[in-house]
Amino acid sequence: ITVEADKPGAAIRPTMWGIFFEDINMAADGGLYAELVKNRSFEFNNPLMGWTEHSSVPGNGNILVLNRGAENPDNPRFIRVTHYTDGEYGLSNEGFRGMGIKQGETYHFSIWDRPAAPVALRLELQNPNGQPIGSARLLLNPSTDWKRDTISFTATVTEAKARLYIGFEGQGVVDLDMISLFPQHTWKQRPGGLRADLVQLLADMHPGFIRFPGGCIVEGRDLTNRYQWKKTVGRVEDRKLIMNRWNVEFAHRSTPDYFQSFGLGFFEYFQLAEDIGAEPLPILNCGMACQFNTAEVVPIPDIDPYIQDALDLIEFANGDTSTKWGGLRAAMGHPAPFHLKMMGVGNEQWGPQYVERYKVFTRAIKARYPDIRLVNSTGPDPNGEKFDFLNDTLRKLHADILDEHYYRNPGWFLQNATRYDHYDRNGPKIFAGEYAAQSDKVVSVNNRSNWQCALAEAAFMTGLERNADIVQMASYAPLFAHVDGWQWTPDLIWFDNLRSYGTADYYVQKLFANNKGTAVLPLTRQGSPLTGQDGLYGSACIDSAAREIVIKLVNTTAQPQSLNIRLDGVRKVSSPARAFLLSAARLDAVNTLDNPTAISPVGTSIPSQGKKLASTLAPYTFSVIRIKI
Ligand code: AHR
Repeated sequence: ITVEADKPGAAIRPTMWGIFFEDINMAADGGLYAELVKNRSFEFNNPLMGWTEHSSVPGNGNILVLNRGAENPDNPRFIRVTHYTDGEYGLSNEGFRGMGIKQGETYHFSIWDRPAAPVALRLELQNPNGQPIGSARLLLNPSTDWKRDTISFTATVTEAKARLYIGFEGQGVVDLDMISLFPQHTWKQRPGGLRADLVQLLADMHPGFIRFPGGCIVEGRDLTNRYQWKKTVGRVEDRKLIMNRWNVEFAHRSTPDYFQSFGLGFFEYFQLAEDIGAEPLPILNCGMACQFNTAEVVPIPDIDPYIQDALDLIEFANGDTSTKWGGLRAAMGHPAPFHLKMMGVGNEQWGPQYVERYKVFTRAIKARYPDIRLVNSTGPDPNGEKFDFLNDTLRKLHADILDEHYYRNPGWFLQNATRYDHYDRNGPKIFAGEYAAQSDKVVSVNNRSNWQCALAEAAFMTGLERNADIVQMASYAPLFAHVDGWQWTPDLIWFDNLRSYGTADYYVQKLFANNKGTAVLPLTRQGSPLTGQDGLYGSACIDSAAREIVIKLVNTTAQPQSLNIRLDGVRKVSSPARAFLLSAARLDAVNTLDNPTAISPVGTSIPSQGKKLASTLAPYTFSVIRIKI
């Protein structure tokens, strides 16, 4: 293999390898958003979903669900609890498939209340047997207006499936809303913040961008349930909850309970992007609902509010604090701009309706913000008619960036390592916006994030890197899945209520992102790029800041393969080179919650002689070699 260090090709953008976030598989509520109470404001379709009433004596209390829709349309429901003295009366919340509680951790409880007379609440974290593992007593003083009360307490035991019990002492009547419980240790210790272990896994990838909020939830099953960013900012109690587009995939369960509280909203997404050093890439609804569902569209004469949402989002992210939306950003605690540079319009939309909407959105956004780069959908199928139509049409219209998605078997990824070698160099740039190799088939419960899939993705990604002049961004999808609440596999990161782990695919993504380099270098074997000859795939780049050549090699075969690597165009090479090896004993090997790093990079070194290195690639391995020059 020859790497020509003196012939740098395309620059590799800092945004090259990023992440795709969508609230699927309980990625937001019950996942990244650290709120432990499910249905905290009683706005689920079934207002008491997640809540259970407990009364030691029949009729010792009751709950009335009240709706003040006219007065508070964004948070219409609350409950009125009447309780008597004859025995114990209380409510418990089951959390999101239980609550993950840690021994020694402090929990912050808060509640909106309006008691007619003083009421004492007995708060208890309980294990599944009902035994207390942390408790507090909170006195609510009478008030004719709504007020927020808080108390913190410490858990005594670690428990993955705890629940929160609220007992009412004595006799009284009290109105309650926004009942909430957060751990103290969120990401950056932010009150009402994000789960720290999950954000850490993202931060460790050093992603170049984060795309949010999806995915199909951008589109919504119908337009009423589309994602509207303006309803996800400001005070959490004013963020209007909707049913998650993925709720229907939970319909086979006894409790289709997948809603979006938007506690993780657009401000938090921008903040997360900033925290982990990623460029924000929001995707907005283009006036079309999910075409796999209702396929509802807004007529073009009525589309202005949708376009206005896009324009206002740019003001929210970048605008001066004297502007309406820039002012809201400042009021939420971030006067400095978020430096939004790109935005997606539509997700997996297709057909002439999309082209029509593409035109009006592009015209309006470019007129006002010519520097914002727009990402446009090419539909869901990388080989089908829908794709060809949009690809041709959007190219003719000089779209900035085309968003291609591919969920395919590992063989497809190997074959497509050359996909971009012959793409038009003068057309739009490419965003490989969603991809994952499927061990079984697309949308199957049998899919596993196994080593064979991850290896195929690594081979494919060498092709993305080699074509970094046109492929400017790539992200695996979906990102997160809760082990007790998923509907789509495979996924990059799995978690339960206490633990989390990255899959083999995660470590492939991380190795690429942490070794992205600054410019592509030619890597050839017998004069040709390494694109599957003898089952080998490879790419190379230079990291000019580190003064290192970075070589990525994938051996997809069952045989070890000896390679001599020659570095041309360098004066000297430091020995040894550093190497990171990702491998597994079996193609069906996986990481698990109990064995989270079974497949994870192992550091090693390779001695060089002069400007040469000799390396034997073990069967089924992905290697990253860094050579100091
Ligand atoms: O990643 C899961 C789904 O796959 C996304 O929501 C959608 O864009 C694609 O079809």
